[in-house]
Amino acid sequence: MEEELRCARHASIDYAAVSAPLATPSVPHDVRPITVAVIALGKMGLPIAVQIAAAGHTVVGADVDETTVDLINAGKAPFPGEAGLAEALAELVPAGRLRATTSTAEAVAQAEFVVAVPPLMVDIDGNTDWRIIDAVLEAVGPALKEGTCFALETTVPVGTTRDRIAPRLAELSGLELGVELNVGFSPERVFSGRVFEDLAKYPKLVGGVTLACERKIAEHYRSFLTAEVQEMGSAEAAELTKLVETTYREVNIALANEFAMYADRVGIDLGPVIAAANSQPFSHVHRPGVAVGGHCIPIYPRFYLQGDPHAKLVAHGRIVNEEMPAHAVSLLARDVELDGKRVLVLGAAYRGGVKETAFSGVFPVVKELERLGAIAQVVDPLYDEAEITGLGLAPWDGQPVDGAIIQADHAEYRQLRPEQVPGAVTVVDGRGTLDGQNLGNAGVRVRRIGGGN
Ligand SMILES: NC(=O)c1ccc[n+]([C@@H]2O[C@H](COP(=O)([O-])OP(=O)(O)OC[C@H]3O[C@@H](n4cnc5c(N)ncnc54)[C@H](O)[C@@H]3O)[C@@H](O)[C@H]2O)c1
Repeated sequence: MEEELRCARHASIDYAAVSAPLATPSVPHDVRPITVAVIALGKMGLPIAVQIAAAGHTVVGADVDETTVDLINAGKAPFPGEAGLAEALAELVPAGRLRATTSTAEAVAQAEFVVAVPPLMVDIDGNTDWRIIDAVLEAVGPALKEGTCFALETTVPVGTTRDRIAPRLAELSGLELGVELNVGFSPERVFSGRVFEDLAKYPKLVGGVTLACERKIAEHYRSFLTAEVQEMGSAEAAELTKLVETTYREVNIALANEFAMYADRVGIDLGPVIAAANSQPFSHVHRPGVAVGGHCIPIYPRFYLQGDPHAKLVAHGRIVNEEMPAHAVSLLARDVELDGKRVLVLGAAYRGGVKETAFSGVFPVVKELERLGAIAQVVDPLYDEAEITGLGLAPWDGQPVDGAIIQADHAEYRQLRPEQVPGAVTVVDGRGTLDGQNLGNAGVRVRRIGGGN
């Protein structure tokens, strides 16, 4: 139903509704200009390339995608949704401060500093397909010159920089690691859509394969960032920090989900309980929900487990989170005998406002409905019928249904009207974002995950 391999990255997030992101790079004064190569000009790499160029360096970016390269060289953003990116490219490219090439070797040969953010393909178990990263190493290595610093920003399992990246670059370049070649890791901690704002706000973490590497790479980052650049002491510490941030979120959500299933058994509304618990400073319980999808939260804890197979809590977090689609369906089954019934799943995307289905809850929700004999159809304001069919799902035929499940918290579903779910006896709110008044007035029952039901 869903592609096995996915790129371990985030999708663009609709932050417009939250706040207006800072749309210009914040840069330090008195920069000693050098040439920097940025490898892989995607949603992460291109804004970083712009940030570096805006600080006064000359940037040569490399990407295998010719259209991306052509658009950048025309001063245009190759993808929408990144605040300030198009404006910055329109200024920096004609000024000769940033250009793109399909030749990684050409970009690297000119650079004192190389930043690489290629995607790492993974499946839901965290099994990695290293081909893209390895291809980048093969292209970068022979072009490195003495004294160059190389920083990987792609999220990876602990040990990757030391065991996979550094030895291959040293071998291909013939340079002595830690003396003639400096290799380190610096995780991307920003959200696409507001990269310049986040780069100005969150400390940039840097870890080297030696302390000398770390110091030199950190100095490069200080030359184009205004946020604190924090030296972590080792590449492993920097790699682990990124995995800790994301693993914390998955385990925290799992805890909220466990509370929610209990609350639904015993009849307590968990919403006010979490709000009350979080009103003192030691409790930071996240929100329960039908699924944990996307490119990062379901995946990076798997990277953590690769290094720590003994971790019980982390492994259990995924087990709990994977129970939630079936829990959502079970709430609907309290009112609707599902066998042979028509159920509308609202939202194919893994979360609201994002056109991305990586590890989306829509797939297990539909699977569970079908297991119980229901006819599951899917609708999503961001996907047309052909796109939903292309995902291996059945698009809604517009006919009345017996029940519905909100899978993605799209803004369109917050004040759901009865005509959006015609005939539904019950709507399960899988995201806790539904104002059920319209439905309630029309006699449609709303059951929220963790709502006490
Ligand atoms: N997007 C995010 O919000 C985010 C956040 C934190 C971390 N990250 C990290 O950044 C990484 C990249 O994510 P992204 O969102 O920028 O991906 P993306 O899919 O937007 O871009 C990837 C780019 O890499 C290019 N590419 C592929 N193979 C290449 C090669 N061999 N040489 C050069 N370029 C190549 C592609 O053409 C594409 O332009 C992720 O794997 C993740 O670890 C992303």
